Amino acid sequence: MSIKTATLNGVATIEIARPEKKNAITAVMYRQMADVLDAAKADPAVRAVLITGQPGIFTSGNDIEDFMQRPPGSTESPAFVFMKALMACDKPVVAAVTGAAIGIGTTMLLHCDFVYVSDEARLAMPFVSLGLVPEFASSLIVPQLMGNARAAEKLLLGEPFTGADAVECGIANAVLPASEVVNHARRIAERFNALPPGAVRDTKTLMRRARAQGALETIGVEAELFAKRLRSPEAQEAFSAFFQKRKPDFTKF
Ligand code: COA
Repeated sequence: MSIKTATLNGVATIEIARPEKKNAITAVMYRQMADVLDAAKADPAVRAVLITGQPGIFTSGNDIEDFMQRPPGSTESPAFVFMKALMACDKPVVAAVTGAAIGIGTTMLLHCDFVYVSDEARLAMPFVSLGLVPEFASSLIVPQLMGNARAAEKLLLGEPFTGADAVECGIANAVLPASEVVNHARRIAERFNALPPGAVRDTKTLMRRARAQGALETIGVEAELFAKRLRSPEAQEAFSAFFQKRKPDFTKF
């Protein structure tokens, strides 16, 4: 079981639990997470969703072997199904970033409502280093949030950044000691039990409305390029290097 789920006190929890592969997300796991989000949206007893990982690791992103074996070629791919469900969730989504959040691990945070980061966590969007491009509107949202200069460090250079940087950039709400991050995020999610759900839903929808159109259009453009880049010799070199535990050699391109 790589995704653990439970609903308690009005909060549906998605716990990414594949520590032996640093919580890398496979097609099956994306589908499971999408199902929880869809069910949470439909269940009036659920007031908020909590997404969390394991001590020291939130997620190392998309499973790179899956990328090589089953490169997502359309907007029907499991990662898309998950991200669409996340973007369509009209209940508050709270993330407890328990450790490293890489690739889609950081991208998904841009679509959560509250993000609490462990003081040990590092975030990164190393798409360029993998021969890829940003995904799920991060090429739009990241420059919008932090300006082009800092976005270039994170998207063009793929520089990792701390939880404190994420707060400063507007991606996260707060940095907490590793031992407290999940409980704090859960307490925030549980506060929605005492708030009127209709007003919460409509307010979330209003807050997302302005960027929704641009985000959807961007996701389409990114997806086309991403699918093309996944099959590129640059990406193949990056993926092979990862599994061979060596540095990729991009000098030949
Ligand atoms: N996909 C598939 N397998 C992954 C993975 C991923 N995204 N991330 C880690 N793993 C696997 C490793 O291959 C390794 O498997 P093995 O034990 O069979 O050799 C295992 O998880 C442990 O990873 P390892 O790299 O040895 O751990 P680490 O503590 O040294 O480093 C990370 C942890 C997260 C920094 C490192 O694994 C990493 O950089 N992962 C890739 C992140 C990435 O580029 N994600 C973007 C995908 S778009």
